[in-house]
Amino acid sequence: MSSFQLDAWLRLGSQRAETALQQHLDLASVVPQRLHEAMIYAATGGGKRIRPLLVFAASELGSVERNSDFDSAVDSAAAAIEMIHAYSLVHDDLPCMDDDDLRRGRPTVHKAFDEATALLVGDALQTRAFEVLSQARCSADSRLAMIELLAKASGSRGMAGGQAIDLDHVAKKMDLSQLEQMHAMKTGALLICAVELGGIAANLPKIAMENLRSYAQAIGLAFQVVDDILDATADSTTLGKTAGKDAANDKPTYVTLMGLDYAQKLAKELQVKASASLDYFGLQGEALRGLASLVVDRKK
Ligand code: IPE
Ligand code: IPE
Ligand code: MG
Ligand code: MG
Ligand code: MG
Repeated sequence: MSSFQLDAWLRLGSQRAETALQQHLDLASVVPQRLHEAMIYAATGGGKRIRPLLVFAASELGSVERNSDFDSAVDSAAAAIEMIHAYSLVHDDLPCMDDDDLRRGRPTVHKAFDEATALLVGDALQTRAFEVLSQARCSADSRLAMIELLAKASGSRGMAGGQAIDLDHVAKKMDLSQLEQMHAMKTGALLICAVELGGIAANLPKIAMENLRSYAQAIGLAFQVVDDILDATADSTTLGKTAGKDAANDKPTYVTLMGLDYAQKLAKELQVKASASLDYFGLQGEALRGLASLVVDRKK
């Protein structure tokens, strides 16, 4: 029987993510202070920290020796990917994109500060992420591999590309395979990248990386399917962001295309698929298994 305690693991992991982010964004007193304050506002103060948690869980696989350099490199990867995610949210909320006023239960960055600052927050969080990765305490080969993966996952063939497809299809129809591709790019790519970063830190063999990727591919899609379901079913207070925004902006989603029941069934199927990819890791896969259920069963 496994003695793995998901709740305790999540508590520690969430705390570790906050600490890593604070450490790598310790810029509040540095000029220009307002921009740095806005970057910290965007990256801290809430968020489920799913991407850092995936980095941590993947880094715990395998049998590499853990020491302070290893922990520090994993923290750098976790902070870097969360900075990219935070930047993507700041830009996603801008009036020229989804035009949202509420994020993580607070005014969005362009509301709390101003639009130009929100733009620069995104720019600067993105470049800070790569600066942090370039200083990660691991081999030069691992650093380079991490930088390449994060760049690809956030760029035009990943998150930014998915966002472009999203904006291109406001009030337009999409078929299921286009919708899946958009979700895989705008959300899935960064989730796959999260486990890859952890896997690189842990020096996992190719076959382990392949299993990790197929796990993350499934939960990456599930994550956005559930995001679409929650947008249509939850309230703004629970979500900490404006509910009903997809319908208001006339966005194609799994809910609008296939209906709520189908979307919920699909999310569950993807969880089963993700779990199956973890069989390879045996009991070591428990944290990742727990994260898959968190992604699918979450209420916000
Ligand atoms: C929201 O991401 C945007 C998507 C990619 C679906 P999260 O649901 O991870 O947002 P936070 O970080 O918890 O606020
Ligand atoms: C955004 O998707 C995905 C990103 C890459 C930021 P959504 O537009 O659905 O995210 P929310 O619902 O505003 O968090
Ligand atoms: Mg959007
Ligand atoms: Mg949005
Ligand atoms: Mg959404």
